[in-house]
Amino acid sequence: MNPGELADLAALGPDFTWGVATAAFQIEGSPTADGKGPSIWDTFTHQRDRHGRTPVKDGSTADVATDSYRRYAEDIALVKALGFGAYRFSLSWPRIMPAGIRPVNRRGLDHYARVVDACLEAGVEPWVTLFHWDLPQALEDRGGWTARDTVHRYCDYVTVVAEALGDRVDHWMLFNEPLNIVISGHVTGAMAPGRRSLPAYFAALHHVNLATGLGSRALRAADPDATVGTTHYLSPPIGSGPGPLARVAERAADAVLNRAFLEPLLGLGYPWRESPLLLGVRPFIRDGDTTDAVADLDFLGVQYYTRLRAPFLPIPGLWTVPRFGGAEHGHELTSLGWEIIPEGLGLALDAVHAYGAFRRIVVTEGGASFPEQLVSGRVHDHRRIDYYARHLAQVAAARARGVPVDGYFAWSLLDNFEWAEGLTPRFGLVHVDFETQARTIKDSGYWFAEQLGGSAHP
Ligand code: NOJ
Repeated sequence: MNPGELADLAALGPDFTWGVATAAFQIEGSPTADGKGPSIWDTFTHQRDRHGRTPVKDGSTADVATDSYRRYAEDIALVKALGFGAYRFSLSWPRIMPAGIRPVNRRGLDHYARVVDACLEAGVEPWVTLFHWDLPQALEDRGGWTARDTVHRYCDYVTVVAEALGDRVDHWMLFNEPLNIVISGHVTGAMAPGRRSLPAYFAALHHVNLATGLGSRALRAADPDATVGTTHYLSPPIGSGPGPLARVAERAADAVLNRAFLEPLLGLGYPWRESPLLLGVRPFIRDGDTTDAVADLDFLGVQYYTRLRAPFLPIPGLWTVPRFGGAEHGHELTSLGWEIIPEGLGLALDAVHAYGAFRRIVVTEGGASFPEQLVSGRVHDHRRIDYYARHLAQVAAARARGVPVDGYFAWSLLDNFEWAEGLTPRFGLVHVDFETQARTIKDSGYWFAEQLGGSAHP
C-alpha cells in the first residue's frame, strides 16, 4: 500500500458498518412484472428525438439491466460472500403503487418483503432507500416534483412501505441525491424527467426538501423504531477566477450544490446571500414550510465521487456554472472523466460535521468506473482497489478528527445501468456480462472479501 491508502480495513473498528449499494432502476429490469407501473426513467430511456436518438449515451435501456428482480437471491449471496454486513438497495415506488397513489400493488410490495427476508436470512442488514429517482410516470403527468401535491403522495408512499416492512427494516433513507433529481432532472435535462426550466428547478428543489422533512415524520409515525436517514451528493467545489472572485464562484457553487439541499433540512432556509439565484425558490415557499422541511434524521448519508470545478463567470447572481474538471488539473480520471480527489471526501465530511447537527454520518456511496476487461474469469481492477483504499483512508482520518462517520457503502455491488450513460460505465465489485447475466467477482470484490472475512476467494 502507498501512503494515503488504508491498508487494513479493521482500522475502522469493529462497529463500523460495511456495505455495498444498488438502486432498483439500475438493476431490476422486469419493467412490467407483477403489475409494475411505468416510472419516469422507463419513459426517458425509451424516448426518441426526431432523429431517432435516445437521451442515453450508448442507446441502451434498463429493460433487463442485471435482471435482479429475478436474481435478487443470487445478488444477496454475493453481498454475503464479499463479506459485507449491509446491503443498501432501493424500492421502486411504481412497483408498490403503479400510479403513484393507492391502491397498493400487493405483488410489488411482496417482492420487496422477499428481498428483505433474503437479506435477513443471509445475516445481511437491509438498508432501504425509499426514493432513488424512479418517480411513477402518472405523478410526473401531474407535475412531478414541480407539483406540491407530490410531496403528500410521497409521504403516503412512505407510510405504506414503513407499515409493511418496518418490522424487519431498521435503516431507511428517504431520498437518494436530491441534487441529481432537481438539477439534472429539471435544469440540465440530462436525466429524467428531462426538464430544462428554472421555475421547474426552484419548485422541485423546494418540494424535495419539504418531502424530506415531512417524509421523516411520516416514516417515524409508521415505524417508531426506524433509524431514519437521507443521502446527499456532496461535492466541495473548487473555485477559480481572478483574485477574490474565485471565492465568490466557489461559495456560489457550494450554495447551489450543497447548502441548498442541507440547510432547509436544518431549519436554516436557503443560502440566498451566496447565491441570489436561489431567490427564485421564494414563490414556492408557503407559511409553515420552513418548519415542515426540518428533517428528523438519525443519520446523514454522504455520497462523494469527485470535486466539481466552479469557474467565475460574470453573470450577476449566478457567478458560476459548476462542471466536471478535466485532465488538465493533473488528477487521475475515471472512465466518466471524473477527477479522483480523495481529499474531497474528507472535506465533505468535515463540512457536514461543522453544522454540529448530524449526530451520525454514513458514507452511503463511493466508487468509480474504469475501463476494464474480463479475461480468463478475472477482472484485475487494481485501480478500483486503489480508489477505495485512498477514500477509506480519508474516512479513517475523519474519524480520528472526531467526525462521527461509522459506515461506508461501496457503489456498486454489480456493474449496472448508469442512468443517462447507459450500460457502458462499470462501477461494480462484480462484473456482469449483460448478454448472459453471468456474474464474476472482480479483484476489488476479492480485496473486500479478504479483509472483511467474506468467503469469496479467487
Ligand atoms: C450516484 C447515484 O446515487 C447512483 O445511482 C449512481 O449510479 C452513482 N452515483 C454513480 O454515478
